[in-house]
Amino acid sequence: MAKEHKDGAAGVLAIFGISGDLAKKMTFRALYRLEATGKLKTPIVGVAIDDWDDEKLRAHAHEAVTATVSDPDDEVLGRLEARLSYVQGDYADDSTFERVREALKGAEHPVFYLEIPPFLFSTVVKGLGKAGLTEDAHVVIEKPFGHDLASAEALNAELCEVLTEEQILRIDHYLGKEPVMDITYLRFVNSILEPVWNREHISHVQMTIAEDFGVDDRGRFYDAVGAMRDVIQNHALQVLGLIAMEPPTGNHHDSIRDKKLELFKAMRTTDPHHYVRGQYEGFLDVKDVAPDSTTETFAAVELEIDNWRWSGVPFFIRAGKYMPAKSSEVTAVFRRPPLLGIGHGKTPEPNKVTFRIEPTPGSRMRMYAKKAGEEAFEPADLEVLFERIPGEDPEPYERLLGDAIAGRHTLFTRQDAIEETWRIVQPLLDDPGPVLPYAPGTWGPKEADELMRGVAHWSDPWLP
Ligand code: BG6
Repeated sequence: MAKEHKDGAAGVLAIFGISGDLAKKMTFRALYRLEATGKLKTPIVGVAIDDWDDEKLRAHAHEAVTATVSDPDDEVLGRLEARLSYVQGDYADDSTFERVREALKGAEHPVFYLEIPPFLFSTVVKGLGKAGLTEDAHVVIEKPFGHDLASAEALNAELCEVLTEEQILRIDHYLGKEPVMDITYLRFVNSILEPVWNREHISHVQMTIAEDFGVDDRGRFYDAVGAMRDVIQNHALQVLGLIAMEPPTGNHHDSIRDKKLELFKAMRTTDPHHYVRGQYEGFLDVKDVAPDSTTETFAAVELEIDNWRWSGVPFFIRAGKYMPAKSSEVTAVFRRPPLLGIGHGKTPEPNKVTFRIEPTPGSRMRMYAKKAGEEAFEPADLEVLFERIPGEDPEPYERLLGDAIAGRHTLFTRQDAIEETWRIVQPLLDDPGPVLPYAPGTWGPKEADELMRGVAHWSDPWLP
């Protein structure tokens, strides 16, 4: 069982890579929101190579918050800025970590957040270890954790020369999304779903993670990664874990992670014949993308689970850039009712339960009812929207950083699950097959439709 902080909260938060893009776009906004809700209580030490000082960091934070938060409160922003101090240094240089130690001022339970390029993770962790800073610490690691199964194992082995598994908090920001947590709640705090949530009643499950924009200025990062590594191995499989896992048992804090792991272990290693890759026309013109790149910006795959609940139920996932809509959702499609001559003898459509993560989180149960005045049926949806006040729920980075400093670790991914998810997709990385072109604004190459042939078709996303 994972160890939580001895007495809960961290005494200091140190952020490596504070001058980078992720910090600018996400971290300062998250810290501001934590400050505004009274959840930020520690000093924050920023570390980076840039020749900055405390004042420059504070000015940068001010600018980043002003750019990402609408109408920030001056007093809250002032409090956040007052927490910040800066350490300049090269991560390969021992003296950097000596300066970090001085800046921590002996605070207990430090949390180190590494938002730096992955090849620097183990350099920084070793530097921290050498400076004697890790004994009582937790280290938050950004995704991607590895590039495939072998590199994820190798990275973990390097980190574990210094840290224990319990000290490593691997981020998958999807797990910090409220509507992703809602999946567990809807499934297990209601008793009507569980009896039908299995192969007896569900014919297949489909998930879409679509974005209606391209790779933009992330060409260098994305060209080395592609849709399979960028969102399917991590975000999509973590969501699938929550959709398909067995009910958590007992009330101990690791029970959900244990059940997801059990599910991942039951998933078959994927078959490259059930995998379609696409690349949007124009991707090769994106800055820093290789002119002959075969990286996929769209991927669709069929997955299978060999357990009592799901055997024979296909799970389809598609994810892509430049799709017709921004939509992230999962739908369980039920078996059709028998043909009984009701509704002019038409074959009834199957019922569906959809969990919508983006946009406007919610859930919908698609039922059918009689069309007024006609012998026909029509959709009669039961819908619930999760957000009471838009924008008020904690955002993923706010939730995850808040959890890390408060000593709550259940939303971070464990190494055993990371290795299983890489194992599941590894054949697709080894034998990716051709990449097929698609026009921006479409649902990828038509071969993605073929993947479902004989089972169903991709549902149109449920949009507000
Ligand atoms: C990130 C990927 O992990 O998730 C991005 O690197 C993707 O390519 C993003 O756009 C999607 O998450 P969200 O929360 O922005 O919808």
